[in-house]
Amino acid sequence: MTARAIPFFPYSQLFTSQEDELLAVMADVCRRGAYIQQQDCRDFEQGLARFMNVKHAFGVANGTDAIIIGLKAAGIGPGDEVILPSHTYIATAAAVHMAGATPVLAECGPDHMLDAADLERRITPSTRAIMPVQVNGRTCDMDAIGAVAARHNLLICEDAAQGLGSRFKERAAGTFGVFGTISFYPAKLLGCFGDGGAVVTNDDAVAEKISLLRDHGRNADGRVVAWGYNSRLDNLQAAVLNFKMRSFPKDVERRRTIASMYQDGLGDVTELALPPGPDADPRHFDVYQNYELEADRRDQLRAHLEAAGVRTIIQWAGTPVHQFKDLGFTVDLPKTDAFFERCVMLPMNVALTNDDVSYIVAAVRGFYGR
Ligand SMILES: Cc1ncc(COP(=O)(O)O)c(C=O)c1O
Repeated sequence: MTARAIPFFPYSQLFTSQEDELLAVMADVCRRGAYIQQQDCRDFEQGLARFMNVKHAFGVANGTDAIIIGLKAAGIGPGDEVILPSHTYIATAAAVHMAGATPVLAECGPDHMLDAADLERRITPSTRAIMPVQVNGRTCDMDAIGAVAARHNLLICEDAAQGLGSRFKERAAGTFGVFGTISFYPAKLLGCFGDGGAVVTNDDAVAEKISLLRDHGRNADGRVVAWGYNSRLDNLQAAVLNFKMRSFPKDVERRRTIASMYQDGLGDVTELALPPGPDADPRHFDVYQNYELEADRRDQLRAHLEAAGVRTIIQWAGTPVHQFKDLGFTVDLPKTDAFFERCVMLPMNVALTNDDVSYIVAAVRGFYGR
């Protein structure tokens, strides 16, 4: 097999493959001079709300601000503890901290998602909320997490930065709790050309607060009625997202096909633990933001793939949140530590051809002598 160069994420290719259409979208916005809080943004918010089957959606500057604003709108702050998995981006914990609350870290379970039993053990009288992270484009088992929340009278606040389009029992990631958040970072399933995010909610009072918080505390008449941030989704980015939203369901299907190909090609390699395949559990509809697996001799496998031209990544640069000791974390999470010794992500994006996927599968198999 001839060597190839398969990037982990082909940022520029995903632009050039639709360059004319994308430039036309952006030129249209610029010609109209429609930059901040304009129709494209309102259209995007409405389309997103429809797509997720949720009452309100607000574009904000990024997925991190989305969490801070959601927490503040839900009234979570100083004195409150929020339980989240350590297997997440620092942004999740940082947002809790920046909202004035305390992030409490929990283990991930066998499917790499927040472990409901472990999180329940970490509940204290100060716990106000659970923040499941819909990591890798999979929604957590929300029956299990919802049961813990109900038993202890806790709010659910979802970080669905990676979860747009994924569902648990037909309900969209981001819509299980008081609010949910999405990121449109360029490498996300629905990525814009810079930073972008959204907060969604079914709660009218929380929605009102989000709308004030993201725009200087201004109400619909432009009058300042509260303290707020400047954290709005740029209209230019919203126009790009409107365009990309049209192909989103097809893009998700393509990712699920690629996941099936990985599953079929690597399912018998006993040195690997693959993520659940697209048809593994009918309760879950996974969208494969990432294809994260566990591998024996992970670092040697990565070097082998690199030599074959296949770029891989270890998520969060290999550091789960609880290992950031400079931030004051002292908790011991041996399961998450063990997972981070073995985890790696194979390329997963819509620019991959079937040949690319077969090549990656063959390279992984070759490493284990299959
Ligand atoms: C799980 C998770 N939470 C939060 C964020 C923060 O989103 P953003 O980069 O848009 O601020 C990201 C993505 O970067 C993420 O993957």
